[in-house]
Amino acid sequence: MKIFLDTASLKEIREAAALGVVDGVTTNPSLLAKESGDPEQILLEICRTIDGPISAEVVATDAAGMLREGRHWAALHKNIVVKIPCILEGLKATKLLASEGHRVNMTLIFSPSQALLAAKAGARYVSPFVGRLDDVSTDGMQVIADIVQIFDNYDFDCEVLAASLRHPMHVVEAAKLGAHVGTMPMSVLAALLKHPLTDIGLKRFLEDWEKAKKELGAKAAG
Ligand code: E4P
Repeated sequence: MKIFLDTASLKEIREAAALGVVDGVTTNPSLLAKESGDPEQILLEICRTIDGPISAEVVATDAAGMLREGRHWAALHKNIVVKIPCILEGLKATKLLASEGHRVNMTLIFSPSQALLAAKAGARYVSPFVGRLDDVSTDGMQVIADIVQIFDNYDFDCEVLAASLRHPMHVVEAAKLGAHVGTMPMSVLAALLKHPLTDIGLKRFLEDWEKAKKELGAKAAG
């Protein structure tokens, strides 16, 4: 499973890049709005920091506008993937951008039927929002399972990018279901690594080592 970081914070992206496990980044207008500075410069710097797919979202809601913004984002850097919302105009824009060789991440996907249409329009990635479905008492993970099955049935050249992952078990479940990518905030990435038994075990190893060194020192002195 590829791991993408869901943030526009350069501080977090640099920190995560050093871990060597991050394959890409997803941003959205809300995430970019939280950062100070020119969004274009921020995206460029993200592309220079992580050599993988970096999603940049359009804000136009008509196909012509999406096409214009999408071409602009794609021209910024070879790593950019154009993020397009899953609406009727978005499908039209996806078809055209894909035919020009641009990669599209179709976002705001909440049902298998939306994912099917996105893949047929030529999207490279579909982003089903697991956490936001869970928020409204719908099983977000079942939507991931259904999309993975549909894409497998027809061998679609489109990756399932499990998004809106809110905790480590969301990531584990999505990986078990075969989602190609999981995008997550830094807090979830950090939580994937954490285990109290690792910390307790390491503390004990170091204490035992120190104790043995002291005993060896005492023996040598005596
Ligand atoms: C994905 O591309 C979205 O940016 C993101 O995963 C949404 O997550 P949220 O529902 O926690 O805002």
